[in-house]
Amino acid sequence: MGRYTQLLTLIVLLVAVVAIKLSMAPAPEPHAAHPRQAAVASAHPMATEAGLDILAAGGNAFDAAVAVSATLAVVEPYSSGMGGGGFWLLHRASDAHTVMIDGRERAPLAAHRDMYLDADGRVIPGLSVDGPLAAGIPGQAAALVHLAERYGRLPLKQTLAPAIAAARKGFPVTPHYRRMAQFRLEALRASPEAAAIFLHDNEVPPLGHVIRQPDLAASLKLLAAGGRDVFYDGPLAQALVEGVREAGGIWQLRDLREYTVVERRPIVFDHRGYRITSVPPPSSGGVALATLFNILDGFDLDALPPVTRVHLKVEAMRRAYYDRARYLGDSDVVDVPVARLVSPQHAEQWRAGIRMDAATPSTSLGKGEAGGGGFHTTHFSILDTEGNRVAATLSINYPFGSGFVAPGTGILLNDEMDDFSARPGTPNVYGLMGGEANAIAPGKRMLSSMSPTFVENDQRLAILGTPGGSRIITMVFHGINAFIDGGDAATIVTTPRYHHQYLPDLIQYEPDAFDADTIAELRLLGHELKPVENGFGNMQAVVWEREAGEITAASDPRGEGTARVR
Ligand code: DON
Repeated sequence: MGRYTQLLTLIVLLVAVVAIKLSMAPAPEPHAAHPRQAAVASAHPMATEAGLDILAAGGNAFDAAVAVSATLAVVEPYSSGMGGGGFWLLHRASDAHTVMIDGRERAPLAAHRDMYLDADGRVIPGLSVDGPLAAGIPGQAAALVHLAERYGRLPLKQTLAPAIAAARKGFPVTPHYRRMAQFRLEALRASPEAAAIFLHDNEVPPLGHVIRQPDLAASLKLLAAGGRDVFYDGPLAQALVEGVREAGGIWQLRDLREYTVVERRPIVFDHRGYRITSVPPPSSGGVALATLFNILDGFDLDALPPVTRVHLKVEAMRRAYYDRARYLGDSDVVDVPVARLVSPQHAEQWRAGIRMDAATPSTSLGKGEAGGGGFHTTHFSILDTEGNRVAATLSINYPFGSGFVAPGTGILLNDEMDDFSARPGTPNVYGLMGGEANAIAPGKRMLSSMSPTFVENDQRLAILGTPGGSRIITMVFHGINAFIDGGDAATIVTTPRYHHQYLPDLIQYEPDAFDADTIAELRLLGHELKPVENGFGNMQAVVWEREAGEITAASDPRGEGTARVR
């Protein structure tokens, strides 16, 4: 009893200290001197070059973001695309305006709660993952037009030009492309149009084979000339809806016509003298990161043995993901208690149940009503010489999305519908549980983990993010910690990763994250551990050391991207 009272007193004291620290956290200086150079980090060399070219042509970071997004849609067809969506976190230096552009997919209006269940209420395997029934209404085209018109200064004809050229001229198949195509071979074969574009004689194309996409080039050209209406109300909309319906999907023209991009206010919180800006619902990223850091703020981690630090971080992850499963969904449709979840009081309640000497079984947290992923979906980070920045994470969900291309469009459709909880309590492809808050409803946005993020104080700034399904949030968490500990962009993207997501109740880790002693000690505390042999994530980071005037950019060595400072 005495020990627990002492512990409780210690916790209360620590919370008080943190509360004082929070109120004293230095506000970032919005008008600090401009960066001397610009930087782009993305998951593909051609996209990084496209961004740099647009900057060199007089575009700002937002113009470059249009070019990078569209080029990634062409050269990383397994990751993101014009048939998908994403979140673009922006900071405009001139007026310190920070906003998230929500170009997330929405459920079709004919979608319904039980659309992936059989007569006995069981999830029909594959239905929310393969083919056009798995596709949400894409947001990327609308988001790019919005970015260009509201924030850019160059015309879409110019910013989409690198993507159009890449689609026409083609790009060479890499080892990574081959792995992704192998993984989705059956889904791609099921769509003759997709097979003709992305396979070679219906097989995984050989290394170096050039993937040309003339239909996609034509679609992008139409978008460049005609803007949003071409995609959402014109010839492309017609072709998409017809193609989807003929192959058994449920899209209607109304779905596209009524699609809207939403500007949302980011989630902002402070940690160890840094301001962290991340994304709100329909992403779970910002809320989960705030919860995670708020919980940890109550412990003096530096004073604890390394294994206890890992233990506490894992316990914080477990609780943040419990909240995710229980409360998070599209806040336009369901009531998400964001303010409560990111409050210090909520973190304090979570902290009270954390034991220093034992893992908490996830099931004991309550029934969250209620994986993996790593190398599809994509992220890029951009800083321009005016100090404008973009962190964007974009997705078509599974590798090559649904595997379905609507004939004549060249547009590969997402399978983001799997990010809904098809049935509360049944995990999705990432092993993530979801609850009522994330049940399917017409026009609703499916919950995401994508977490493009800024971390800054008046001396330093980081722009970061990564793909990785359910593991995105904890990867960004590790990236933020690496930066706050003094790391540059390369350190942020290389730091070894570990992850807990409430259920399944185990720590997933990269082999170099822990040594044998740490693993043994974590097991003694009651944690189950599972190595992820090939690692996970594909983080892209840009760091600006404002005082030193130094800029570093890095692309995750686990992937095939490049980062350039110029
Ligand atoms: O929005 C999400 O959270 C998922 N659709 C992201 C998928 C992903 O990152 C795949 N991973 N490599």
